[in-house]
Amino acid sequence: MDKETLLARVAEIQWCHTIDLGNGVVTPGLSKTKHLATDELPPIEGRSVLDIGAWDGLNAFRAEQMGASRVVALDHYAWGVDMAERNRYWDECNAQGVVPDYRLDETRFWHPELPGMRGFELAKEALGSTVEAKVGDFMKIDPAEVGTFDVVLFLGVLYHLREPLAALERVRALCNGVAVIETSSIHIPGFESEGLIRFYSADELDGDYGNYFGISAPALAGLARAAGFNSTKVVAGPPQLRKSRRPQPPHVYRLLMHAFV
Ligand SMILES: C[S@@+](CC[C@H](N)C(=O)[O-])C[C@H]1O[C@@H](n2cnc3c(N)ncnc32)[C@H](O)[C@@H]1O
Repeated sequence: MDKETLLARVAEIQWCHTIDLGNGVVTPGLSKTKHLATDELPPIEGRSVLDIGAWDGLNAFRAEQMGASRVVALDHYAWGVDMAERNRYWDECNAQGVVPDYRLDETRFWHPELPGMRGFELAKEALGSTVEAKVGDFMKIDPAEVGTFDVVLFLGVLYHLREPLAALERVRALCNGVAVIETSSIHIPGFESEGLIRFYSADELDGDYGNYFGISAPALAGLARAAGFNSTKVVAGPPQLRKSRRPQPPHVYRLLMHAFV
């Protein structure tokens, strides 16, 4: 594909991820999530990788470029839900002071032709990638149908799920090595060693009604063990709060943990 054609096709899509497609073309991703540093990832070369909640596929393509033997990108909501339509409904709910009905994602806002997958497909084509796509709700899909992987990427998904322990049990069922779990966490000075889970009943976290939980590092480690992982390691953890700063807990921060089988 020549550069002009690629640029025109990129411009037709609303991107979540900023992906370097080569030839000077970079997708204009809306996500503000920090890209994973190489030392935040376990060894990838020669290993099979499953990216749960892959969206445009940034991390799946990255795993492929790092030499993974096989990469599967799995997603559901971002590929099938008309986000613009849903956001208008959320704005209406906000104006009326009511909490949106999440079930409409899979009825009123659901498009079986998967319009949200266009970014992933175009990036895959432009990169000449062999990453495999798997469409499905991670919480409903039969794990036996997906198989097991050496590395499972579970990045920015846990806080969206209504059943965190059941979700981690599913991650465990798909993992025969290490799961890389990135989620939104909470830090309450004086309660650092407590396993706390904060529930967001509306759109308090980033204005998103689909964000439900802030999970402290000890709570995530405990959930991972309860789900059947043998050990965990915090790779990016609580912020170093300035001593002089007046505590205004809870502080929200990005937590990255490796959970080992
Ligand atoms: C905040 S985005 C994170 C995207 C990407 N993993 C990243 O870190 O940039 C959450 C992703 O999880 C997906 N997701 C949420 N719930 C899911 C489920 N039950 N099954 C499959 N994918 C899901 C969404 O569709 C979306 O692509």
